[in-house]
Amino acid sequence: MTQLPGLLDTEAIRKDFPILDRQIHDGRKVVYLDNAATSQKPRQVLDALNAYYERHNANVHRGVHVLAEEATALYEGARDKVAAFINAPSRDEVIFTKNASESLNLVANMLGWAEEPYRVDRETEIVITEMEHHSNIVPWQLLSQRTGAKLKWFGITDDGRLDLSNIDEIITEQTKIVSFTLVSNIMGTINPVETIIRRAQEVGALVCIDASQAAPHMVLDVQALQADFVAFTGHKMCGPTGIGVLWGRQELLEDLPPFLGGGEMIETVSMHSSTYAPAPHKFEAGTPPIAQAVGLGAAVDYLSSIGMDNIAAHEHAITEYAVKRLLEVPDLRIIGPSTAEERGATLSFTLGDIHPHDVGQVLDEQGIAVRVGHHCARPVCLRFGIPATTRASFYLYSTPAEVDALVEGLEHVRNFFG
Ligand code: ALA
Repeated sequence: MTQLPGLLDTEAIRKDFPILDRQIHDGRKVVYLDNAATSQKPRQVLDALNAYYERHNANVHRGVHVLAEEATALYEGARDKVAAFINAPSRDEVIFTKNASESLNLVANMLGWAEEPYRVDRETEIVITEMEHHSNIVPWQLLSQRTGAKLKWFGITDDGRLDLSNIDEIITEQTKIVSFTLVSNIMGTINPVETIIRRAQEVGALVCIDASQAAPHMVLDVQALQADFVAFTGHKMCGPTGIGVLWGRQELLEDLPPFLGGGEMIETVSMHSSTYAPAPHKFEAGTPPIAQAVGLGAAVDYLSSIGMDNIAAHEHAITEYAVKRLLEVPDLRIIGPSTAEERGATLSFTLGDIHPHDVGQVLDEQGIAVRVGHHCARPVCLRFGIPATTRASFYLYSTPAEVDALVEGLEHVRNFFG
């Protein structure tokens, strides 16, 4: 078996993930390489979800009975865990949403309804990048259409990096908000946050970071990042679906208006007007995703027990190996950085002129799960003049043997279509 420096003890880790023992297609063990879409869940998270529903289920913040108090303590305890995980200065800066898309839409709508100095209007500009997931493009297009603000973006270089050569023309005195991904969901590129934030701060623009593909894989320290908002989702980091996070600076959360109205986000309500609860509750209208937050808390405990630095080192070793092995496959072109430097463990590629959907289907027949398509980042495919890619994405339980299985699988694909 291939041994690489920095690898985690995957034999032990994989025992925590029951699904990784699943056999498909006549007894083939599943090789799960679709972690950028969603990660698998360890037993510790599944047990926490079960225990919540079996022993503590009630609505939060409302009841005086034991179960309601326990559910509230578990839900708010999950907020404490997430706050510690991202080194937030205050637990009140952690807003639970249903996913990263909702978190990003929330930021766009907070700004859309804001007064000065945050007001977005036809005199102002919004900056994104060409490598965003659709959930960090469409909310800003909607905001731009509604307010008349100009939408601008950074392009992508041939090797899948952000083109910052014109940064001073893209981020200007008119820029109100710069929103960009820390790690590309399609190419794995890790973006130079400091350079972008420094320029945004020079012109007094707010910064929103989509950390959906970063939070599961590396240390995410919101104080070190120095952004104003950071969005991510639970299901890509060993947690359940239906839970996302928006971290925001306390003073902004105090100043900015709510987006969704309803129960639990108010202080008082009359038939004429309402006043709002302080953050984070101001932004959490209605019954929140309680069990899902508890599950995310368990996921954060699980990841922390392994160590985010150790996970990052493991994924770096796997990525180095995967890049080397993939580049040995004839006709394979990596879309994105073709070295392991400043990139995460997500690799998109094309294979000659074989359509990615055919690649994915033949790989699936061999038990290998990858994602094919435009990965909700269609502008990247347009940029490279391709309709789609095949994407393999790795996580803390991925092994060099799975990289080998992928490469062998691609040989089958080539023979099949060759
Ligand atoms: N955002 C997820 C992906 O990139 C679904 O696949």
